[in-house]
Amino acid sequence: MKIRLIATVLLMLACVTASAAPRERLSLDRGWLFHQGDIVQPPILGHEESYGNAKAGSAGGAAGNEYDDSDWRRLDLPHDWAVEGPFDPKANVSQGYRPRGIGWYRRYLKVDPADRGKHFELQFDAIATHATVWVNGNVVNRNWSGYNASYIDITPYLRYGDALNTIAIRVDAEAMEGWWYEGAGIYRHSWLVKRSPLHVVTDGVHATPRLVKDKQWSIPVEVTLNNSGKTAGDVIVEVTVYDPAGKQVAQRTAPARVSVLGTSAVQLPVTINNPALWSIEKTNLYRVTTRVLQAGKAVDETSLHTGFRTIRFDAAQGFFLNGVHVKLQGVCIHQDHAGVGVAVPDSVWEYRLRRLKELGVNAIRFSHNAPAAEVLDLVDRLGFVVMDENRNFNPSPDYMKQLEWMVKRDRHHPGVVLWSVFNEEPVQATEVGYEMVRRMSAAVKALDDTRPVTAAMNGGFLTELNVSHAVDVVGANYQVPDYDKYHKAYPNKPFTSSEDTSAFMTRGEYKTVKEKNLIASYDDDAAQWGNTHRDAWEAIDTRPYVAGGFVWTGFDYRGEPTPNEWPSVSSVFGIMDLNGFAKTAYYIHQVQWIKDKPLIHIAPHWNWKQGENVRVMVMANVETIKLLLNGRALGEQKVDPYRMNNFNVAFEPGKLEAIGYKGGKEVVRTSVETTGAPVKLELIPDRAKLAGDGHDAMPITVRALDAQGRAVPLADNEVTFAVSGGGRSIGHGNGDPNSHEDEKGATRRLFNGLAQLIVQTNYDSKDAITINASAAGLQAASVTIPVQQVAAIPYVASADAPLTFVRSWRIAPDGDARPDPNQKLASFDMNTWGWGSPPMRAAAGSKYHLYRASFTPRKNLATGTGRIRFASIKGKAEIWLNGQLIGKKDSYAAEPLDVTLPAGAGKREINVLIEAEPGQGSGIEGHVTIEPGLLVSSK
Ligand code: GAL
Repeated sequence: MKIRLIATVLLMLACVTASAAPRERLSLDRGWLFHQGDIVQPPILGHEESYGNAKAGSAGGAAGNEYDDSDWRRLDLPHDWAVEGPFDPKANVSQGYRPRGIGWYRRYLKVDPADRGKHFELQFDAIATHATVWVNGNVVNRNWSGYNASYIDITPYLRYGDALNTIAIRVDAEAMEGWWYEGAGIYRHSWLVKRSPLHVVTDGVHATPRLVKDKQWSIPVEVTLNNSGKTAGDVIVEVTVYDPAGKQVAQRTAPARVSVLGTSAVQLPVTINNPALWSIEKTNLYRVTTRVLQAGKAVDETSLHTGFRTIRFDAAQGFFLNGVHVKLQGVCIHQDHAGVGVAVPDSVWEYRLRRLKELGVNAIRFSHNAPAAEVLDLVDRLGFVVMDENRNFNPSPDYMKQLEWMVKRDRHHPGVVLWSVFNEEPVQATEVGYEMVRRMSAAVKALDDTRPVTAAMNGGFLTELNVSHAVDVVGANYQVPDYDKYHKAYPNKPFTSSEDTSAFMTRGEYKTVKEKNLIASYDDDAAQWGNTHRDAWEAIDTRPYVAGGFVWTGFDYRGEPTPNEWPSVSSVFGIMDLNGFAKTAYYIHQVQWIKDKPLIHIAPHWNWKQGENVRVMVMANVETIKLLLNGRALGEQKVDPYRMNNFNVAFEPGKLEAIGYKGGKEVVRTSVETTGAPVKLELIPDRAKLAGDGHDAMPITVRALDAQGRAVPLADNEVTFAVSGGGRSIGHGNGDPNSHEDEKGATRRLFNGLAQLIVQTNYDSKDAITINASAAGLQAASVTIPVQQVAAIPYVASADAPLTFVRSWRIAPDGDARPDPNQKLASFDMNTWGWGSPPMRAAAGSKYHLYRASFTPRKNLATGTGRIRFASIKGKAEIWLNGQLIGKKDSYAAEPLDVTLPAGAGKREINVLIEAEPGQGSGIEGHVTIEPGLLVSSK
C-alpha cells in the first residue's frame, strides 16, 4: 500500500541546534502556551494507572507529555496574568484587588542529536509564586518563592532528534509572600543554557574585589566547576580581568580536575593595582572573564562585571563610599509598573531607575525581595548603592537556599552595599529572632564577608536581646523617636533608616476629598507610624549617625491603598505615581537631594476659580525665592530646606512665577500658567528609537494641550490608542489609584492631565512603530518611533502544533504462534508483559511480536482528520485500534507507515502486531506520533 500524504501541517518545531560556541545562553521567552486556572486530574483508581502514575516520566494531565494544549493561549514571556484580569472587590486588598489564582504554562523543545552529552540547564529568573516544573513528565523542580531563580539541570531527561521535549509548569499564585501586589506567572526571563559537560556552574564565579593596602586590590576569584560527562576532566581555568576600556589588567590560570558528576572549586586570586574606582558618579566597571580550557580548547566561558570601591558604615558618621561620606538618599521600591504589572521590560526598568537618578536618589532598597538580575546590572551602570533584601525570613534549609542564592548571584555587584535578611518580623525583639538572624547572617558571611548584614526592624531595638545584636548595621523602619535612644544605648553600632516616610499623596490633586479617596499633594498626610516626606528627611538629615533614609516609596505600586480601601486599588505612598510621573514629593526631595545645580518648582498648577485662595508651595535649593503673579511680586522668602516655602495666593488667571536667588543673584526661575481647555493630544516618547529585538520597550507620555500648546493639568479625556508597524502596546496607566480601567485595552483616560502608554517592538522587527491617539473633541496625535534592526537575542525557537508522541508501550512475550492482538491483560499484571519506548527492536528469533499502548488524541482530531504515523516499522504489521484493524503493512522492510486515525474522542488502545521476516530482526524502530493530516491511499 502506497500512502500519499495530501495534507501536511506546518510544524515549526523548537530546535536547539549544535554550535561551536563554548556556552550558549538562549532566551526561552518566546512561544509558551498558557492556560489560566488549574487543571485538576481525575482521581487515579485502577491498579494499572496507579502503578504507572508512580513511575519516572509519567506525570499525567497538564504536567505530562501528551496533554492536549492545542487550544491554550500562545504568549511570550515575561508574563503577568494578574494584571490582565479585572479588579474584584472580593479579592485581596493587599494584592490590589487582583484575583491571582493558578495557571499552567507549557512549551516544547527539540534538541539536536549533535548536542548529546552537553549540559542543559533551564533557568527561570522568577515565577510568582509557587511553581512546579516538569520536563518530559518528570518533576524537576519545586520553587516556593516568587522572587528567586530556579536553575534546573534537565540533561538526564532530554530526548534528542525529532522527539519533542515537553516543559510543563504549574504556577500557584494563590500563595502569597507579601502584602503588596505580587503578580502571577513567569514574570521574569527564562533561559536555556547549553554548556560543555565540564563547565562553570551558574553563579559559580565568586569575584568580589577587596582592598589590600594603599591602591592595591585583590579579587580572590573562586570558580566552581561541574562535570556531567562520563570521564573525569583535567582542565585549566583561566580568569582574565579587563578594565572599563576593555584592556586586560590581570590574568591567572590554575589547573583543576573534576571527577565524574563531581564539583570542584578552584582559587584564582588576582591582584589589581590602582584600579579606576566605582562610585555613584563614576560607574567604572571591570569585566571578569572565566574560561575553562580542555586540551587547549575553550570548552566554557562566562563573564561578569564588578567594581572596585570601599564601603564603611560608621557608627558616628554614617556611610562612606571610597572614604567619602555619602548620606543615603534612598527609596524603597516594589517591582510593578503601570500597564505591565510585575512583567516589567528591562528597558522600562532603565526608565524607572533614570527617573530616580533625576530625582537625586543615590540608594535603593529593593523591598522586600531581590530584584531581577538585569535591574542590578542597571544599578551598577547608572550608579546607585543598594540594600539587597531577602524575602523569606527562615533559616531552615529550603529557605536558607533562597538567601544563599541571592548572595551568590549578587555579590559581584559593586552597587550592593548591604544584605538585608528581613523586613519587620514580629520576633525581632526576642531570642528566637536573634537566633534566626544569627544563623542567616552567618550564612551570608560564609558567601560574602565584604558587606554588612542588616535587618529592617520596626521596634524592639532596646529589649535585652534582639535582632540588632546579631546584625552589623541596624536598620530602623520608622520609629523616629527611637533613633536617638538607640544611638545613646549603642553608640558604636552603625545605624540607618531602612524605611521611612509612608506619606500619602495623589498625583495632581491639591484638595483632599475623603469620599473620593483623593489625598492632596502638599505633603501633609502620612501613616500613623510614618512621617511626611519633609519630617522624615529632616529627622535623618539632621542626625549624622543615621547613615541615611529609604523613603517608602519611590513609586506607587498596586495594592496597599492605605489609608483607603476599595475602590482604591493602588498605593499613594510614591514620590512618583505608578508610571513614574512626579508628585509634589518628587520636587521636595529633588531640591533636598540635588546640590550641584539650582532648582525651583511650584505646586500646584494654576487652573483655579477666580478669587479662590490657593496654597502655593515653592521648592528650591537656593538661598531666597520670590513669587510673582502676573508680574506682581507676592513676597520673598528665605529658602527653608526642610519645610519648603509656602504662600497663600488669591487666584487670578495668568502666570505664577518663582525666581530663585543665590548671593543676591537670580540663578533659576520657573512658572505655572492658567491654561485654556484642551484642544489636542500630544504624545511624548521617552527615547528617540527602539531596538527591534522584541524586548525593547518605552513609555510614551500622553497629554492634552490647550490652543497655545500648554499642557492642561486637569484634563481627563478618554484616549483611544492604535499602534501599528513593528511593535505593539503592552499596557498603559494614568496614576489614578482609583481607576479600574483595563490596563491592556485600547483606551485610557487622562488622569490630572497625564497617561502613559508602553510600546514594545515585535521580535525581529525593523518597521517603525506608529502610535495614534485620539479623543472625542480633540485633535488626534500621532508619533512614529524608528525601530532599529538588531541581531536577535539568541533564543530557542517557538514550537507549534506539537505532535502526540506515543512513548510508553507494553511488549507481549514473543512467540511463533500468532497471538490475539486484542487479548486482555489484567490491570494488576505489571510483569508478564515488558515495557518499552521506541525504538523497540527485537532480535531475529520469534515470529510474532505484539506491542500495546494507549493515547488520547488531541481534541482537534476527533473528527477523523488525524493519522497515526510510524516513522519506521520493520516486519509486516497489523495496526489495531480499540479492537478494530485500521491499518496494515505488507512488506518486511523497515518503512514508515501512516494510518488514518478514526474519528472519535477519548483514550484509545493501540495494538501493533509485527510478523518478523524469518532470520531477521523486527520492531517499532522509530517514533510513533499522532498528527493532524489526512491520508489518501492508493494501490
Ligand atoms: C511598612 C512595610 C512596608 C509597607 C509600609 C507601608 O511597615 O515594611 O512594606 O507596608 O509599611 O507604610
